Amino acid sequence: MPKRPVSSSAPPAVLRKKHKKRGSCRCRPCAGTDGPAGTTSDGDRRNHEDVLRESESRYRAIMTQVKDSVFIFDFATKRLIEGNAAFETMTGYMQNDLPSRTIYDIIADEPAAIDAAIDRLEADPHIDLGERFFRGKENTILTVDASAMLVSIGKCKAVCIIGRDVTRHNRLTSALKRSEELYRTLYENNTAVMLLINPLTSTIIGANPTACAFYGWNKNTFHEKHLTDIVASPDDGKSGEIAFTMHGSSDHFFMRQRAASGDTREVEVYTSPVRLLHTHLMYAIVHDVTEKVHMEAELTQSQEDLRRLAAHVETVREEERSHIAREVHDELGQALTALKMDTRWIENTFGTASSQLKIKTVAMQKLIDATVKSVQRISSELRPGMLDDLGLGAAIEWQTEEFEERTDIHCLLRIEPEEIELEKKIATTVFRIFQETLTNIARHAGATVVHITLRKSEGRLSLMVRDNGKGIVETEITNTKSIGLMGIRERVRSHNGTVDIIGRRGVGTAVVVKIPIL
Ligand SMILES: Nc1ncnc2c1ncn2[C@@H]1O[C@H](COP(=O)(O)OP(=O)(O)O)[C@@H](O)[C@H]1O
Ligand SMILES: [Mg+2]
Repeated sequence: MPKRPVSSSAPPAVLRKKHKKRGSCRCRPCAGTDGPAGTTSDGDRRNHEDVLRESESRYRAIMTQVKDSVFIFDFATKRLIEGNAAFETMTGYMQNDLPSRTIYDIIADEPAAIDAAIDRLEADPHIDLGERFFRGKENTILTVDASAMLVSIGKCKAVCIIGRDVTRHNRLTSALKRSEELYRTLYENNTAVMLLINPLTSTIIGANPTACAFYGWNKNTFHEKHLTDIVASPDDGKSGEIAFTMHGSSDHFFMRQRAASGDTREVEVYTSPVRLLHTHLMYAIVHDVTEKVHMEAELTQSQEDLRRLAAHVETVREEERSHIAREVHDELGQALTALKMDTRWIENTFGTASSQLKIKTVAMQKLIDATVKSVQRISSELRPGMLDDLGLGAAIEWQTEEFEERTDIHCLLRIEPEEIELEKKIATTVFRIFQETLTNIARHAGATVVHITLRKSEGRLSLMVRDNGKGIVETEITNTKSIGLMGIRERVRSHNGTVDIIGRRGVGTAVVVKIPIL
């Protein structure tokens, strides 16, 4: 620190309200002027000078070392006399700036207000000025917490102002206040349920008004609550308590909570660790998702119901098909056979007598034969008897031949092993899926070759149908209007299986179905 110029003035003495009696005062100004003249010896004078020097150096030490800004101005002229290092740093005024400045340059109040404060010092030599605006050399405005003291320098009255720059402190305080207000507004007015939790004690130490309304507790009683008072998990809230108090990182979980009334709500909780005055706390935002959870449960339930209904309809349909197929095959078949025998009898009995009758009965027999074939076809289409009598492999083989014949698309079929024994329900499901894939190939693929593989391996039945057509595209696979594909998926799902539909433009489409079997 640069060495400060030593003021010519003697250290000021604080003026007391009631000045000491003349002659008995030992302060420097009084000592220098009021002592009885002519009575002081040389030794006494030297002694006085020593005391004075000592006092002077004590004063200097205080002025340079004190952290508060200290400056002195003349009571009568208001001119500045001296300021310490802290004053220079605070205001930017150096010692040689001071003689040309007055107190009105430093304190940024109205001169009349300054005068009034100075006048008050006559009655009370030590007054607290409170927070004042000071003006620095560069016109900077500082907030200074100041006090004024009436002092004497020699015979002169002077005023010593001691001040502490609180500009930064005030700025910080108001920033803190603002952020506190902001936080409070966010916390108090937030429509979300907010809780502050002490993870060490598992207690709720803060709840915003929304939380109080949500749980039905008032602010004061809420603060005594333990986490298990609001968590309604089956294990008496233990797992919920642990979830809440898990330290270190933010978390997100669902749980069931209880209100004061005993009502339970499904909630979604977001927690994050916070530090408040050196204490680790958990901050939680709680969303009521009861309606959502109930709706989801209802949706899942209705989906399950729909699936069960679809499966039931399918079973009933399959049973009806089997029944009609049998009826058509057996009843119509027998009737047609009887008719054919009858027409043959007519032909044999009366045919020789009438050539016209013979021609007619032969035509009738041909028609009956064609009708028998139709009946067999219709019956097989309704429910291939092979599926029940010879199994899935045979039914697929028959269906493949039919398809080849009908469409002229070459089919390569592989069945491994040759004999596949299956539960009737699974066999029907796979057969119907197979029929749908063949229909799709005929209708949409534009293919010339189809590869079909039916394989039964350890615990699994798989069917792969791959064509060399135009290739199905993703939007067609996912389209909710693709009812045929949806039917395939649903049938597979009811047997806990999987289905993959893969299409490559210009290369073809493959449908792979896998169903677990015992
Ligand atoms: N093998 C295939 N090759 C090319 N496109 C196909 C094939 N299979 C299905 N698609 C496409 O997927 C769509 C959906 O099939 P699907 O659900 O069975 O409905 P649908 O046959 O009644 O049109 C079809 O309209 C067709 O565009
Ligand atoms: Mg289809």
